[in-house]
Amino acid sequence: MTIQFKDESFRGDFTYANSPSNIPRFPFPFPEDEYMYSTNIEPHHAARAGSPFENAFDVDEHYVAEMKDRALVLADDPGRCQALPHMETAGWDFLELVMVSKARDYPDLFKLTMDGDRWHWINKPLQIDDTFTFGDSSTLPCHPMEYIGRQVQGDHAILDQRDGNLWMDAGIITAQADWSLDFDIGMNFFEWHAPVPLAHELGVFQRALKFLLTLPQGQPSRRLNWTLTVNPRLDTSPENYPKWGPDRMTVTPENIGEKVHLRVELQTFWRLPRSNAILFPIRTYLMAMNEVVTQPKWGRRLHRVMRDLRPELVDYKGLSRYHPILVEWLSQFDDGAPTSPGI
Ligand code: HEM
Repeated sequence: MTIQFKDESFRGDFTYANSPSNIPRFPFPFPEDEYMYSTNIEPHHAARAGSPFENAFDVDEHYVAEMKDRALVLADDPGRCQALPHMETAGWDFLELVMVSKARDYPDLFKLTMDGDRWHWINKPLQIDDTFTFGDSSTLPCHPMEYIGRQVQGDHAILDQRDGNLWMDAGIITAQADWSLDFDIGMNFFEWHAPVPLAHELGVFQRALKFLLTLPQGQPSRRLNWTLTVNPRLDTSPENYPKWGPDRMTVTPENIGEKVHLRVELQTFWRLPRSNAILFPIRTYLMAMNEVVTQPKWGRRLHRVMRDLRPELVDYKGLSRYHPILVEWLSQFDDGAPTSPGI
């Protein structure tokens, strides 16, 4: 498989876009015409060749550009990558999982050679060729979580498991939908989810935690989450709110198709072998409204979902400023035809 990596930006002139061939593989997140929070977790089985679920860690045409954006964020704010002292073993677990998976799934791009603890890693797209001793952080240029986190698309939180809860004790988070690692570090599952409306009352988090606490090694799970972002900006952190918050005021009926992006998170859950921690990758996919509506069934369904979205979710997801304009704009793509369940 050969991937043509795009030279594009997620800031400034915002040259990010999806190639026409990349659009159908977007993980459209709505299996029904309406949306409400649920414990929507399923096995992370390999699915459909060419889909974002085909491989353990999906690599697509945005890989190199996303890694450049991560490096910019980290240079500006090292606090986006933090690990409490007891999380070093989990960092090595994370590194191993990614290297083994990528070398297996994309042998033309990544190569891993293990000679006992002596590992040789080649990442062709990022032009990295390193040899190190597995488990010895002094043989890497930085913490193992940061080393591998700079080479894998998506943010990554690592949760320590103790006292019947999960604790956000490490993470490399540079592309978040308005939450802060620096604020959440050391919090437990219920504490970091506290701001989410309605889901607590529905028992979503109690069920999800129960499931995650018994997650077995080698049987990863996944779920999709979504929001909207104005401009294809990856770094919508609270730390940088002054840079992106005002963008919401710039949406008009004329520019909404290119400005507003559906932002989908493919979230996966992995039990790590040595540390017993859980790795939580949050892989973000961005697609402009103009690109979404090239698929008629997506345009039709998105109109219905947005039109009927609960006000609490409109508010929490930060859509209030332009939600009415969006619903009106999407209505032209809804011919009223019935839709079938599934994506
Ligand atoms: C939102 C982290 C697993 C459901 C969030 C937020 C964070 C987060 C940081 C943002 C909260 C804020 O507003 O500050 C995590 C981590 C997980 C995890 C680290 C790994 C264990 C889950 C699971 C579910 C879930 C298993 C449900 C099955 C939600 C929902 C939201 C949310 C519904 C609101 C999202 C939105 O409306 O955009 N999560 N989460 N999370 N999480 Fe999780």
